[in-house]
Amino acid sequence: MMNRRQFLLSSTAAAGVAGLAGVPIMAPARAADGFTEIRAMRAKAPLLGRDSPMTDVWSYNGVVPGPVVRAARGETIRVRLINELDDPTTIHWHGIRIDNAMDGVAGLTQEPVKPGDSFDYVFTAPDAGTYWYHSHNKSWEQMARGLYGRLIVEGDAEGFATDHILMIDDWRLGDGGAIDERSMGSMMDWSHGGRLGNWVTVNGTSYPELELTAGAANRLRLVNPSNARIYELEFKGLEAQLIGLDGQVFDRPRPLDGPLVLSPAQRADLMVTTGSEGEAELLALNGSDRVGLAGFRFMRGDGGNGPALLLKPNTLPEPDLDDALGVRLDMQGGAMGMMQGARMGRGDMSGGGMMGSGMMGGGMMGMRDLVQNGFAWAFNGVAGMPDKPLFAAPRGKSVRLTMVNDTRWPHAMHLHGHHFRVYSRNGRPEAQTPWRDTVLTNAGETVEIGFVADNSGKWLIHCHMAEHMAAGMVSWFDVA
Ligand code: C2O
Ligand code: CU
Repeated sequence: MMNRRQFLLSSTAAAGVAGLAGVPIMAPARAADGFTEIRAMRAKAPLLGRDSPMTDVWSYNGVVPGPVVRAARGETIRVRLINELDDPTTIHWHGIRIDNAMDGVAGLTQEPVKPGDSFDYVFTAPDAGTYWYHSHNKSWEQMARGLYGRLIVEGDAEGFATDHILMIDDWRLGDGGAIDERSMGSMMDWSHGGRLGNWVTVNGTSYPELELTAGAANRLRLVNPSNARIYELEFKGLEAQLIGLDGQVFDRPRPLDGPLVLSPAQRADLMVTTGSEGEAELLALNGSDRVGLAGFRFMRGDGGNGPALLLKPNTLPEPDLDDALGVRLDMQGGAMGMMQGARMGRGDMSGGGMMGSGMMGGGMMGMRDLVQNGFAWAFNGVAGMPDKPLFAAPRGKSVRLTMVNDTRWPHAMHLHGHHFRVYSRNGRPEAQTPWRDTVLTNAGETVEIGFVADNSGKWLIHCHMAEHMAAGMVSWFDVA
């Protein structure tokens, strides 16, 4: 297995060679009845680069990341998932304020799709922006093997000369570039920072180079489908301004001061510009190390000024904090944590508690027993899915959720079916109170969010570090 130094070395070495254009974007096939077909299937992917051995992956339609699903704001999306794998699977449409029955959560909103079976997803996308989709059955394994893709809802901006989607993933590869399977399900990873990789790809390949237009506004959509890695990204040689987060564009660009932090499942949309032809680079910072992830070449445009940039934010219901249901969520457990024990919830949700759960139902268990059952974390004293929801809200009610990270680890907290505003961290108001669907809560931090529970159904709330979710950081809420 590659060690960390080799990862850094090989990434830097890759930066020197001629850039790869990136894997071809395969247009998804359309069935006669108008459904876009997405096949979950085995494939080989050039993760290490074009002249290196291919990696066996699980894919959508043979490519990693999966095909770009595109729709206009408000349009109905019809996708048929055809499962050609030997394992059951589902697709979750991350960040879409979707009809609950189409949310793709195995064990909560649907049965997993068996090998050889198919499932029709039909939903409207109310908000334009940058989204993604991924397996929501044993995600800790299926996402690590490559089951994710891009979902773009058009209509939130005009005037960009180019538009690039960059999915940044880290893979844990062993000899010959094969996915390290032996470490899957490692309790060491599950109780610490999750499965971290040793090889970073952008759009499924090493160090792609992309063309941007000089003298114009270029759009970059960054997506982090990694199981657990938090990136700190920096741009070298270009001017980048933030135009949106988690699929919600702002009304105007905002300066980027300092590195851009992108936790698992988060997206960041950027406007990048330069006055003249030249080169630039996207870097990841890991402590003091800098790893080149992708290169950009600014090519001369067709001259003159492009059309004026126009951002068209979505309209989301504004929470009423004065008349909100107050809910507290304590995040507990993990290595070096203070948790002594917890009650054990259901372990079969979303692939959690993979060691099986013969011993379900209620009693307090010590840490050792929890770990033996595949759990290491808890929300409000319950590891895994509780029988009762974290909260129930009548439809249209505002919810003010205080999340307290009482662990030694960062967690990327995600709510299904809703976007929320981030109001404060440790009591300090959050600048611009951005709309998000996934928020990073650092060790020891208290983060306050609010949203209108306006989407009926049973919705998951979990840490998007896939191993943390599987090992207990998952609950649900009910909107009547
Ligand atoms: Cu990206 Cu439970 O989801
Ligand atoms: Cu976590």
